[in-house]
Amino acid sequence: MDQQHQLKIEAARAALKYIEDDQIIGIGTGSTVNCFIELLKDHTHRIKGAVSSSVVSTQRLEALGIEVIDLNDAAEIPVYVDGTDESNHNLELIKGGGGALSREKIIAAVADTFVCIADQSKYVETLGDFPLPIEVLPMARSYVARELVKLGGDPVYRHGFVTDNGNIILDVHNMEITQAKILEEKINQITGVVTNGLFATRPADHLILATNKGIQEYSK
Ligand code: 5RP
Repeated sequence: MDQQHQLKIEAARAALKYIEDDQIIGIGTGSTVNCFIELLKDHTHRIKGAVSSSVVSTQRLEALGIEVIDLNDAAEIPVYVDGTDESNHNLELIKGGGGALSREKIIAAVADTFVCIADQSKYVETLGDFPLPIEVLPMARSYVARELVKLGGDPVYRHGFVTDNGNIILDVHNMEITQAKILEEKINQITGVVTNGLFATRPADHLILATNKGIQEYSK
């Protein structure tokens, strides 16, 4: 097993302390979250159910016998656990490398507490080295791309990828993101954008970062 994967497991393990008995938990998407789901197999008896951000995570949860509940039927989500592509010191994130950003953002909005789990490579000074994913309605692809160029980015169509919502992803390169909240709002104003992968209006509440020197935890 490579070192990065080992760190993902350690971050996932450190998040287990946020799971309380008989609650509905929110579950994100990605390889770090897959480590977390794997660890849940010893805790299924105390989990009431899960709200999932993707078809892939749903399949993994159901394989463990955890009931996956429609978000509209969940009165509350005390804790949401998800990974990230980048986090800065304000716990503002870039997410969506796996293309599940819109559902992830919806669950994060509903959750009381958002616990982000990551290996050390995800912690950055300034957001934007990782191309910013944007979910777009297919017919708006070219228009949205032109508007993103006006904002200073270089959008690249993620070929061959369709989101769980039937939409496409534009990955925006070369954005140095110093005012994440403002940019998040600006991009979401472009007609045809479902949402973008900046999680600044609703950042994480806790970042569990697994490093070579052990777990570091940052809180808002
Ligand atoms: C999926 C995401 C993931 O959380 C993000 O891409 C990190 O993935 P990984 O844990 O595989 O590095 O936002 O849409």
